Amino acid sequence: MSKHFLYSIILLCFFLSCKKTEQTPTPIKGLITKNAMVVSARAEASEIGSDILKKGGNAFDAMCATQLALAVTYPFAGNIGGGGFMVYRKANGDIGSIDFREKAPMAATKDMYLDENGDVIPGKSTLGAMAVGIPGTVAGLFEVHEKLGSLPLEDILKPVIALAYKGTKVTKKQAKTIKKYQPLFLKANKDSIIFDKHWKENDVIKQPALAKTFERILKHGKDEFYKGETAKILAKFIQDNGGIITEEDLAKYEAKWRDPITFSYDDLEIISMGPPASGGICLAQILKMLEPFHLDEYGHNSLKTIQAITEAERRAYADRSFYLGDPDFVNIPIKTLIQENYLSGRMSDFSFEKATLSSAVSHGNIQIIESDETTHFSIVDQFGNAIAVTTTLNGAYGSKLYCSELGFFLNNEMDDFSSKPGEPNMFGLIGAEANKIEPEKRMLSSMTPTIVEKNEKLYMTLGTPGGATIITSVLQTILNVHEFKMTMQEAVNAPRFHHQWLPDEIRMEPNSFDRKLIKQLEALGYSINQKDAPVIGKVDGILVLDDNSYEGGADYRGDDTAVGF
Ligand code: GLY
Repeated sequence: MSKHFLYSIILLCFFLSCKKTEQTPTPIKGLITKNAMVVSARAEASEIGSDILKKGGNAFDAMCATQLALAVTYPFAGNIGGGGFMVYRKANGDIGSIDFREKAPMAATKDMYLDENGDVIPGKSTLGAMAVGIPGTVAGLFEVHEKLGSLPLEDILKPVIALAYKGTKVTKKQAKTIKKYQPLFLKANKDSIIFDKHWKENDVIKQPALAKTFERILKHGKDEFYKGETAKILAKFIQDNGGIITEEDLAKYEAKWRDPITFSYDDLEIISMGPPASGGICLAQILKMLEPFHLDEYGHNSLKTIQAITEAERRAYADRSFYLGDPDFVNIPIKTLIQENYLSGRMSDFSFEKATLSSAVSHGNIQIIESDETTHFSIVDQFGNAIAVTTTLNGAYGSKLYCSELGFFLNNEMDDFSSKPGEPNMFGLIGAEANKIEPEKRMLSSMTPTIVEKNEKLYMTLGTPGGATIITSVLQTILNVHEFKMTMQEAVNAPRFHHQWLPDEIRMEPNSFDRKLIKQLEALGYSINQKDAPVIGKVDGILVLDDNSYEGGADYRGDDTAVGF
């Protein structure tokens, strides 16, 4: 055998082995457990939730514990000073959802963020006491526990109280975000707050004031937060800082059970959150517009897949802006908005030959018959109950206003209203009349806690933070599993992109998409923005595998962690 020939054989073998690896890469899998799992933004919160399940509690008990633990360990978005939504599917197939979204105070007015010229006053709806909506989280947790929980409240709260006293370790990412927002903490607060210190990785933050608030809530129940000592301190604190929330506002707050949005996509049945969250309707619209396209054949993040998804997103977000708001205040034509023939009409002018301009897309015409930075966790328990919970302070650390006496940040959810129809909020979302500010109204949200069934069984539970990008991140994760056969972890890891009608651009996670692909998109008329969204969403999900075990997908973009047994 000549040396030349031998080299050729070695080269050929090398090439073939490389090719084989290319064709069958080892799947990347998240944590796999047999019985139960919690996936949340922080390990301590997932552990507390999982321990509750181990003690015999169900997913609803674990939901309450995980949410409160996130308020301790992840004050960036975890909260009792904010609100959120939960979608559930019980082991017997019963489904439901609860809205514990914040509300506008009674003294709120349509123009409260405008100056005498009718212009939006910068920062008024985002920073400080005027930005705060009436918090809903505590009411939501009590409703969930009363209706669906099984353990005594004491068993749920004790480990969280202990965590707040003992303190939690600062992660590298957390040290960075605290530092980043410190100038705004100084602006929003009259006195210095615990988060003003120079916190470094591995330092331990103890929160005795928050622990004491939890202890009072444990002793006196929900009324402690809405009518008791905590309510009095909170209302006075907000007013002393120039806000308008009163004790009466707090006393009147109620969480609401609502019908979830349900729809099919191929052989999947999807259950998601309805208004005042826009997530369920928008997700239904986008998936239904995509259903006739063969995304699996086009390939993951291929030119045609990105085009089809972008164009469906553009049209859904245009409808979102016009039709959606608090269902207790506006009539929303939900059935029509997610009807197949309405949606096929919306896509009828789409062509793969060139981008549709957002200026050429308005809301669809529907005749209304008069009679209208967040965090997510997913849990599946050992009984087969599943929940998806997305909860928020809105921006990072909400309004940045921190009540040191009570130990928590307050939301800046009022910015999710349209301060001035046609004017973008902090996520660039354009709001319209349906989402104008009114006393006691809930502001429109993008949150999309979602559960997916396949063959009438639980298949997936997922959701994400990310403001306007929440809906499109949940969408892509479902498609990654269903169309592109990824594992849960791969589906979460995959690079994401986002279009929201206005601004007319595709936001892409930087350095994640091929340059040639970007050039092709630009040639077709798409404007690409790789600067403004270094991270799109932090998806946490759980997938039921063929052998009925669970795979967790915890987003590497944050400190998200899956824990289970
Ligand atoms: N504040 C973000 C949302 O509700 O969508």
